[in-house]
Amino acid sequence: MVYGVILAGGNGSRMGGEKPKQYLTVKEKPIIIYTIEKFFACPRLEKIIVLCPQQWVEHTKNLIKRHIAPAEDRISVIEGGSTRNETIMNSIKYIESEGKLDENTIIVTHDSVRPFVTGRIIAENIEACEKYGACDTVIPATDTIVESQNGLQISSIPQRSLMYQGQTPQSFKALKLKKIYETLTDEEKDILTDAAKIFIMKGEPVALVDGETHNIKITYPYDLRIAKSLLEDEE
Ligand code: CTP
Repeated sequence: MVYGVILAGGNGSRMGGEKPKQYLTVKEKPIIIYTIEKFFACPRLEKIIVLCPQQWVEHTKNLIKRHIAPAEDRISVIEGGSTRNETIMNSIKYIESEGKLDENTIIVTHDSVRPFVTGRIIAENIEACEKYGACDTVIPATDTIVESQNGLQISSIPQRSLMYQGQTPQSFKALKLKKIYETLTDEEKDILTDAAKIFIMKGEPVALVDGETHNIKITYPYDLRIAKSLLEDEE
């Protein structure tokens, strides 16, 4: 079974403001609704799990009723975790509690604040995950990437043609991800902020899926202005 997993458990500290950024309205709808709509429109996603802070669960359910479909049982809203990876783990626990977790269960995990994901990207994530067990959505790096170990001087400049920028979705065989995650120490969990890195660290393959430059993550107030003009273009 293939699940869409919308990660909305963060507080958006870099955005500032009273509510988490995924609930800010751009044009006529909250950002999270545009994102859920993209997943809802993808027929291969049999179920969609939305994970958000506990105090936002009711509000999120109401938004879905109002904007997407009333009494829609294809979407479940549950509580996220204290970190992004813990939020992903909560989705797997939920699938397990429903008795649906097996070797073929796939989760297509996606930032709630990337409303410009496309049906093509989601479909290619599912195909790549079926074939390789995990995949990450990327675009070729446009800027040169500079590495600094101490924040003062450059330690290396990797060849740009080999560099990519990570986006989401990231998709995984859910049972495999859970098993690997359970072997990590608390220290490793703290370092592994990126879920695909969990697979990489254990030598497991992660395939690349072509993203889109417009599949931006809304992080800072400036990104809201870009999102607004991209939505105007979509009309
Ligand atoms: N996220 C999540 N659970 C967490 C933390 C983050 O589901 N415990 C989600 C966010 O809601 C967001 C996505 O992961 O959709 C990408 O994270 P980021 O942009 O870093 O969001 P925030 O953590 O909300 O932002 P900030 O780092 O500025 O606080």
